[in-house]
Amino acid sequence: MRRWTRAHARHLAQVLRRGRSPAATVYESLGADFFLSPAPGWLNLGLWSGPGGEPEAPVAARRLADTLAARLPRGGLVVDVGNGLGAQDPVIAERARPRLLLALNVTESQLRVGRRCLAEAGALPVVGDATRLPLADGCADGVISVEAAFHFPSRTAFFREVHRVLRPGGVLVASDFTAQGRPHTPAEWVAAMSSVRFWGLRPDVLVDDDTMAAQLRAAGLADVTVTRCGQRVVDPFLVFARQRLAVLRDVPRLQRWAARAMVGQWALLRRRGLMDYVLVHAVKPAD
Ligand SMILES: C[S@@+](CC[C@H](N)C(=O)[O-])C[C@H]1O[C@@H](n2cnc3c(N)ncnc32)[C@H](O)[C@@H]1O
Repeated sequence: MRRWTRAHARHLAQVLRRGRSPAATVYESLGADFFLSPAPGWLNLGLWSGPGGEPEAPVAARRLADTLAARLPRGGLVVDVGNGLGAQDPVIAERARPRLLLALNVTESQLRVGRRCLAEAGALPVVGDATRLPLADGCADGVISVEAAFHFPSRTAFFREVHRVLRPGGVLVASDFTAQGRPHTPAEWVAAMSSVRFWGLRPDVLVDDDTMAAQLRAAGLADVTVTRCGQRVVDPFLVFARQRLAVLRDVPRLQRWAARAMVGQWALLRRRGLMDYVLVHAVKPAD
């Protein structure tokens, strides 16, 4: 039976008052074996080809990372920003065959948990913040960020950092959430704001796909594509999450209840067209 921990208590306190490192607080609380993780080591919603459900979950989580990594330049210096528990790093290494892979994460405990995956990928762990990349100007050939930028203190500051560290012709690939419009009804407000509070987000991360594309261009990036794909990500994940929650027994009741509430609220936001998911590709133009 999983138990309540201090990390859970810190997370609950942060729902009321956002702390100084909100993402690290959230991921320390979810731990290395989060009960809605699609497969051990993965913390994304997956890119699905079917309707959702347990059998495809590990494949979908891997497919999301692989689909993004396939667009990275081969053989260069690649920075994986917000690498989670590291399961994606062997996938990125296999696809992009980087000369050097840096796995950057603000949650130090995740880098420790993921050290086997990082060793398998030949990746170097770096504790750091996406909005202050500890890298020289123009040194990177590719930046990949799988479902992490919604957590960053500022998405626009991250895009500026990506532009700074990429060499001309270097590539950014990412996946992220978008908010396609403002909530209007009380139920929509509750759904949007409880997600913002639970995940420790700043309300200004809620931007739509066009705004995100404009932010990428404003940071100096070109050939920008922001492709909506919530039907292949969020909707099947919700099917999977409901199935998983129906059979979970070894998780405290309040945690199961909170997870069910979140699934219901995301389903509402999807039905009302307010929540989507995007795949991002952009290039730093030649000088
Ligand atoms: C939803 S998880 C995704 C993890 C992983 N990419 C995956 O697909 O399994 C978000 C990740 O972003 C990291 N993160 C959040 N804020 C960050 C920041 N400011 N700088 C670097 N990493 C950050 C978290 O620690 C976590 O590992």
